[in-house]
Amino acid sequence: MAFTLEINRLRQEVERALPVATEIRRDLHRHPELALEERRTAQVVLTRLQKLGVEALRVDETGALGLIQGGRPGPVVALRADMDALPVTEETGVPYASQHAGKMHACGHDGHTACLLGVAEVLSRLRQELPGTVKLIFQPAEEGGGGARRMVEAGVLQDPDVERIVALHSWPDLLAGQIGVRAGAMLAAVDTFQVTVRGRGGHGAHPHRCIDPILISARIIDAVQSIVSREVDPLESAVVTVGHIEGGKTRNVIPDTCFFEGTVRTLSEETRRHVQSVFMRTVNGVAAAHGATAEIAYHRELPVVINDAGVVDTLRDLGTELLGAENVAEIATPSMGGEDFSLYLEQVPGALFRLGVGPGRPALHASTFDFNDDALATGMLMLAGYVLREP
Ligand code: NI
Repeated sequence: MAFTLEINRLRQEVERALPVATEIRRDLHRHPELALEERRTAQVVLTRLQKLGVEALRVDETGALGLIQGGRPGPVVALRADMDALPVTEETGVPYASQHAGKMHACGHDGHTACLLGVAEVLSRLRQELPGTVKLIFQPAEEGGGGARRMVEAGVLQDPDVERIVALHSWPDLLAGQIGVRAGAMLAAVDTFQVTVRGRGGHGAHPHRCIDPILISARIIDAVQSIVSREVDPLESAVVTVGHIEGGKTRNVIPDTCFFEGTVRTLSEETRRHVQSVFMRTVNGVAAAHGATAEIAYHRELPVVINDAGVVDTLRDLGTELLGAENVAEIATPSMGGEDFSLYLEQVPGALFRLGVGPGRPALHASTFDFNDDALATGMLMLAGYVLREP
């Protein structure tokens, strides 16, 4: 891989940017903000970018965008970090633990944001060597709240038009210093449904005079479990999960309605459409068989994260050169989790890669999870390295 500068110079600049990036990471960890509340976080980002002399603007109240024009001709590349925290009470016991009860950075987004600010510092010093233009997208509300959609609709991918986009996400199963890459489907499409089964209520002793929405909901929930086993190709992947059900108030009254909701995950657009259509048919059909009706709200939330093979090849080569081949893991199978980074990938080719934060880190979203600062340099090297290659 050819760079526009000595790799040692890149390493030095990353080392130099590391103390402030670490300080910012811990500051953000202390002050977590939930989806669409990231005002302070966005301000920290904007203040830092301005201090570095990077053109910066606020996007959609709680997002931010930085723009760095390189000194050489080249493409427009976007790097994206997510900034939101989770409604989890922190139990890490670290000195920089959350100061806000019930909120914490349990998914490493504090690390992702600090990492991208570190990259901003590195690139602000290496402007002359930078080919093309880099857009730094600091996105709110990745954990629900439509952050990526808001940023895309606000036009962050236009003017100048982004040609490729790259992001990273913390991964506890890899060690700090390692990354994980995968071409093609990496994370699932996420859809959600809400169903209200409408029957006819009455006395629990006289079910024949009623249409029992609780029994019918139970039958529907059982029936939709057959979608994956009997409607989807066994070599394809799909998940249908009902995570919430509510109906009735007491033991001897049959209610008028019963409500349930859940999520559908798939790894291809074809399976996604198929599962949706079978779901509608099954819910309506089972309800009708019992003389009830079903109101279904089905939301296509996020498409599949499909990593561009060319961008992944570049990331793999880059990782091999900067981190060593032994520190670049091939991700064997996709995850049925989702990521709204897919909304950018619908518009432009790009890739999401995993950033190791192990060892000894609990699962993402756990109340004991903490981003590993030892991973900051690796993330910065990879993101800065990606845009500092010869175009
Ligand atoms: Ni996350």
